Formats: sequence, C-alpha cells, structure tokens
Amino acid sequence: MSILNVENVSHDFGGRTILENASFRLLNGEHIGLVGANGEGKSTFLNIITGKLAPDSGKIEWCKRITTGYLDQHTVLKPGQTIYEVLQDAFKYYYDLEQEMLSMYEQMADCDDKTMNKLMEEVGEIQEILDHGGFYTIDVKIKEVAGGLGLNDIGLDKPVDALSGGQRSKVLLTKLLLENPMILILDEPTAGLDPQGTSEMMSLFKKINDLGKTIILVTHDMNHVLQYCDEVVVMNHGRVEKHDSVTNIFKDSKYLNSLGIDLPIITDFILKLNNHGFNIDSSINNIDQLILAIGGEING
Ligand SMILES: Nc1ncnc2c1ncn2[C@@H]1O[C@H](COP(=O)(O)OP(=O)(O)O)[C@@H](O)[C@H]1O
Ligand SMILES: [Mg+2]
Repeated sequence: MSILNVENVSHDFGGRTILENASFRLLNGEHIGLVGANGEGKSTFLNIITGKLAPDSGKIEWCKRITTGYLDQHTVLKPGQTIYEVLQDAFKYYYDLEQEMLSMYEQMADCDDKTMNKLMEEVGEIQEILDHGGFYTIDVKIKEVAGGLGLNDIGLDKPVDALSGGQRSKVLLTKLLLENPMILILDEPTAGLDPQGTSEMMSLFKKINDLGKTIILVTHDMNHVLQYCDEVVVMNHGRVEKHDSVTNIFKDSKYLNSLGIDLPIITDFILKLNNHGFNIDSSINNIDQLILAIGGEING
C-alpha cells in the first residue's frame, strides 16, 4: 500500500533550483536508503515531505492518519533536562491530558449539578484514553526501551548536558522509539557516532523495520545501504532519479561512480573477483555468504 505520494515537487533557494519535479512513492514497510552526493537536495526533500518546508510547486499526499518521526544530527536536547525527562516528553500528549483531568477534578469541588455531570463524563473519557494508552505503565516502558539502547547504564537521572554526542543520539533515538511513529525519517542519524554506536543503531533500525516499521534513511555509507536497506532512492540534480532494489542499484557501478558514490566494499570486491573469472552473485550482502560463495567457486 502506498502511504506517501510525491508528485513533481520543485523548490528553489535564492533563485537556485534545488528540487526539480521530484516524484516519489513510499510503500508501507519499506526500508529506503536515500542517497546522492552532498548538496543534491536530500535534506531539503525530507524537510518538504515532513511539512517543515513548503515546496514552490508540486503535490505531497500522505495517507490519512500517518504519523512520522524525524531524526537528524541537528536535533537538539533541551539543556537542564535529565534523560528521563526527555524520554517522558515522548508521552507529552498523555501528560497534558492528565493535567486537563486534574483541573476538572478541581472544578468539581465547586460547581452545579449540570456542570458536574458534564465534567464526570469528560473525566471518564480521558481516564479511558489514559488507561488504554498505557499512561500508568510509562515508567516501565521508558526503562525497557532505554535499557535496550544502554541508557540505563548511564543513569536516567543524568542531565543531558553532560552526555557525549553518541549518548545524545541514543537519547533522541530512544525518545523517537517511545513515540512510536508509523514512519521513521532519519537524516544521517549516525553522523558523529563511533563505529560501534553506528552499527548498533543501524541494526536497531533493521530490527524495527523487520517488525513492520517503514523507514527512510539518508546515508553516505553504501555498506549500510547494502546491509540494512531494501530499496534505494537516488537523488541527482534535484530529481529522484532512480528508485530500485538495493541489488539492482548496486549492479550499475558506472552510474554510481558518475555520481561520486562508491560501491559497498563487498559488492566492489565481488565485481573484482568476477573480473578475474569468478562467477559470484553480486547481490550477496554479508561476509559469511561471500566466503561460502568463494569457497564454492574454488572447490567446485
Ligand atoms: N535554507 C537554505 N537556504 C539556502 N540554500 C539552502 C538552504 N538549505 C539548503 N540549501 C542549499 O540547497 C542545496 C541542497 O541542500 P541539502 O538539501 O541540504 O542537500 P543534501 O542533504 O543532499 O546534502 C545545497 O546546495 C544547500 O547549500
Ligand atoms: Mg543533508
């Protein structure tokens, strides 16, 4: 099912065309790697589909009631807050409702019968939303998801100001996961992380995509695209120039090189082997499979 349709979107910055008739379709459950050279308009495109920026022309149609969550390296944490408070913000909607309910209780102390009945009814409705939405188990949920990303070890009462860049990224990602939007839009989310943090985060994205979450990920690292994504969207000269499976995209190394995009190390290695008489499946995306395939060629 298509959940986003973008048709002929164009956008200029100061008279310079950044996007020109970009069109794109997002299907439910896809894990897209959005790639392209620096300055080709990837971030601008994401800002437009998330509504942060209005296009000069074109159409963006999201399926009804879709929720999106966005993360990039510029997302900031409010200084002074603890990790726990930042994570609680993921449930702001419910905390606001609770406040509304409490102020209704205060009004009840001094009101006429008619108002009382109306307030009782509204309080009941809010109470049901809170019960249903897991409001009273927020603490458990926060600790569970935070634990999964290693934040409990840092201590949830630690002020975010004292965190390293990698730890901040984890806090922001944890908050995003707690908000549980239907679509994750990630603009170079691992920028600034060390290799271990990066691969942990990438594996997590893959895991939640496997559970059905739709993901659009901008990355410069084609090894990540090969290992974690299903589909690739290539932006070039302000257009969505290609949208194809990872396997098909990485078959065309000449095209990618012309855009300044390197092949994933594994794919590049397979090409070289095949140029030397091997006949290895170029869609292989991990070392174990590659070793097996080489073994098969050598022995067979
Ligand atoms: N707010 C802005 N004002 C003017 N130019 C901008 C603005 N944002 C981006 N640009 C320019 O638009 C082009 C595309 O930027 P961007 O979408 O960030 O590319 P990418 O994410 O692919 O690197 C770049 O040349 C950039 O300098
Ligand atoms: Mg960018």
